[in-house]
Amino acid sequence: MDNKSDKIIIRQARREDMPAINGILNYAVMNTNYNLNTSPRSEEKAYEWYDSHVRDGYPVVTAELGGKVIGWASLSRFREYSGYNTTAEVSVYVSVNHRHKGVGTTLLTALQTMAQGRFHCLIAVVTDNNWASLALHTRCGFIANTTFREIGYKNNTYIDITFMTKLLDK
Ligand SMILES: CC(C)(COP(=O)(O)OP(=O)(O)OC[C@H]1O[C@@H](n2cnc3c(N)ncnc32)[C@H](O)[C@@H]1OP(=O)(O)O)[C@@H](O)C(=O)NCCC(=O)NCCS
Repeated sequence: MDNKSDKIIIRQARREDMPAINGILNYAVMNTNYNLNTSPRSEEKAYEWYDSHVRDGYPVVTAELGGKVIGWASLSRFREYSGYNTTAEVSVYVSVNHRHKGVGTTLLTALQTMAQGRFHCLIAVVTDNNWASLALHTRCGFIANTTFREIGYKNNTYIDITFMTKLLDK
């Protein structure tokens, strides 16, 4: 049966999505080494993050199922130097109950469409044990350029970080 509530909707994030987006992010912060923050982001900081993305024209998209946000993806400034303005850093997060069903691929594909014509290079900064993220970005055409040994540190462990890039207008 074609039930509307079974359909995943990909859309631009709204400000009122931020508590759900932040909850999905903070799950990864608290339960994994994939995000190198060690404490959860406050709702106040989450709204600041959203407002700065809207102001600077960096997209945030959500995956919605049955009226609930089950995943999100964003582009963010890679580094503050103006010479990096043509590069954007990718983030993709899917709620733990909805992984491995193609939601991450759908979000990243939508994000890349929005990035076309605006950015030349997308970069994903991936902790080296994050097999799902490495697979997701590889599937979407990113290339693993290099792995920096032990440049991250969380939960008493030094963490290797792989930089993956995709050039858009090639
Ligand atoms: C990374 C993440 C966004 C992938 O989302 P997803 O919806 O599960 O991804 P998809 O279902 O579209 O699968 C994409 C690829 O990842 C693979 N994958 C998904 N979960 C996996 C797992 N646990 N282990 C290994 N591969 C996995 C899929 O098999 C697929 O690869 P394939 O094309 O080779 O089959 C999700 O696991 C997540 O939110 N992780 C925590 C947050 C995070 O690490 N974000 C990335 C930070 S760089």
